Amino acid sequence: MRIQWDTAAAGWNAHTAGIRAWLRKPTDAMCRMAGVTAGSRVLDVAAGAGDQTLDIAELVGPHGHVLATDLSPAIVALARDNAARAGFAHVETRVADGEDLGDLGVSEASFDAAVCRLGLMFFPDPLRGLREIHRALRPGGGVCTMVFSRPEKNPCLTILMSTALKHAGLPARDPFLAGGLLSLGQPGRLDELFRSAGFHDVATTALDAVFHLPSVDDYLAFVRSSASPILQILGHLDAASTEAAWSEMRNRLMAFTTQEGWEGPNELLLTAGRRPNETP
Ligand SMILES: C[S@@+](CC[C@H](N)C(=O)[O-])C[C@H]1O[C@@H](n2cnc3c(N)ncnc32)[C@H](O)[C@@H]1O
Repeated sequence: MRIQWDTAAAGWNAHTAGIRAWLRKPTDAMCRMAGVTAGSRVLDVAAGAGDQTLDIAELVGPHGHVLATDLSPAIVALARDNAARAGFAHVETRVADGEDLGDLGVSEASFDAAVCRLGLMFFPDPLRGLREIHRALRPGGGVCTMVFSRPEKNPCLTILMSTALKHAGLPARDPFLAGGLLSLGQPGRLDELFRSAGFHDVATTALDAVFHLPSVDDYLAFVRSSASPILQILGHLDAASTEAAWSEMRNRLMAFTTQEGWEGPNELLLTAGRRPNETP
C-alpha cells in the first residue's frame, strides 16, 4: 500500500483542485461532524497531500493544531509543502500507519477531534485504525470518517475495477473484502466497527458527491495518475493490454457524459462518533 501511494502521490496532488471541488460539501460536513472548531487539536489520518488538512488548519486557526499523518512518505512530503506554502505553521506532518500511531509518539487522549477522508477503507484492519483514533482522542472528543458507500451507488469505481480485473485476467473480487476501495460500503458495517472501537453516539450519513468534470478524458486523466488500486491491478500488463483496458474503461464511462460535461455519480458515507467521557 505504501509503494502504491508513493507512486500515485504526485498524481493525487496534481488533481487537488478537482478533488477539492468534488469533495467540498462532504469535507465541510466531515469537519462539522468531528467537532472541529477554533482552537481544536485535530488528528488527520491518511491525510494524503493534505487538501482537507488545509481546511482544518483554517478552521482551527493559529491557536489550534493539526497533525496530518499518512503511510506514504512521498504524499506526506507533498502535504508538508502544501501546508508550508499556505503559511500554516500550526500544521505538523508525520509518516505513520493509521493502524499503529503509537510509534509516532501520538500520546493518549491528546486530540479534540479526528478525521479520516477516503482513507479508512484501505486499511487491512480498519477496527485497529479506529481503536488508534479512539486512543488519541481526549474523552468527549469526536471523530468523522469518509468512505465510499455500496458498489451500485459508485458505478464508475465498479466499472474501473471490473474492467481492470478482466483485462488483468483476474477473477471478480468481493467488493467488501478488507482493504478495497468499497470495502466499508456495506450498510451498518462502519457503525458496528465504531462501536467495537469504543465510540458512542455513532451515526452514519450518506451524501451524494457527483464528480463534475469537463469530459470523460479528464476523469480518466485523474484515474490514470492517481487511482492507485486500479494502477496496481494494471501494473503487470504490457503496454498494448494496458491501453486496451483504458480504452474499454473510457467507452463504459462515456455513459456519464451529459450536456454539462461529465458527471460521475458517487455516494459517500460520513460516520461520526465520540469517545465517551468515562471510558468503560
Ligand atoms: C484516496 S487517498 C486520500 C487522501 C486524502 N485524505 C484526501 O482525501 O485527499 C488515500 C490515502 O490513504 C493513505 N493510506 C492508505 N492506507 C493507509 C494506512 N494504513 N495508514 C495511513 N494512511 C494510509 C494513502 O497513502 C493515501 O494517501
